[in-house]
Amino acid sequence: MSQQQEPGFDTSVPQTARIWNYWLGGKDNFPVDRAVGDQILEAFPAIVENARASRAFLARAVGYLADEAGIRQFLDIGTGLPTANNTHEVAQRVAPDARIVYVDNDPIVLAHARALLTSTPEGATAYIDADLRDPDKLLQEAARTLDFTQPIAIMLMGILGHIEDDDQARSIVNHLVDAVPSGSYLTMNDGTDTSEEVVEAGRIWNQSANPTYHLRSPDRIARFFEGLELVEPGVVSPPRWRPEPSPSGLPAEIDSFCGVGRKP
Ligand SMILES: C[S@@+](CC[C@H](N)C(=O)[O-])C[C@H]1O[C@@H](n2cnc3c(N)ncnc32)[C@H](O)[C@@H]1O
Repeated sequence: MSQQQEPGFDTSVPQTARIWNYWLGGKDNFPVDRAVGDQILEAFPAIVENARASRAFLARAVGYLADEAGIRQFLDIGTGLPTANNTHEVAQRVAPDARIVYVDNDPIVLAHARALLTSTPEGATAYIDADLRDPDKLLQEAARTLDFTQPIAIMLMGILGHIEDDDQARSIVNHLVDAVPSGSYLTMNDGTDTSEEVVEAGRIWNQSANPTYHLRSPDRIARFFEGLELVEPGVVSPPRWRPEPSPSGLPAEIDSFCGVGRKP
């Protein structure tokens, strides 16, 4: 994408959705995004594997929720730019009547949202341009598509790290979980401060990219699931959450932790 083709975006400040898109091999990014993306890649070469493994977790988690857990409604907050295996594609492959609401606050994600609105005729998809820090507005708009008397899977994938303060993040998570009925789920995944390389990557990110991103310890991530029943194997590194069986044993961990919890 060239700056001439897409006027209206801030192309002077690297943005999270576009940098993530760059690491995933997408084309919806600008030179500033690639520059900081490359700088981080140099300090933390595993970032590309990290991004791919995080997306693979998303697909396995949504597959589990739609299939084994029987969930038919998804609220995917911090959607990112459309890529392979978007939430509605995975969910509707299992359950064509699944309804999905996507939420993001980046104008470039809004501009590409039509690629997320390709629902099956039996199901529905909607996109909301809203901010996680204003959960009331987000929930009000989501209620146009989702039935809040029936279970909903709330998805926070790679977004809570953008909320630095644990109390604020916890209060947002509680607000969302309080709004959905028993039998609903919280699915989340975020970067952890588990290697020197990733900590350096976080430092580089926070010098130039928007919004800032704050790595947490695995324990701090696990605390967001308090009050929920954790689906096996609990809060783990994404490659270890229900991986495909492999003769070579458990896959290697990455600097990220994830989980799926059920509201009792
Ligand atoms: C690292 S990307 C993750 C994308 C996708 N969930 C995934 O796992 O591949 C984080 C996304 O969260 C969005 N985001 C960050 N802060 C947000 C906020 N306060 N409200 C809504 N979206 C936000 C960004 O625009 C970006 O698209």
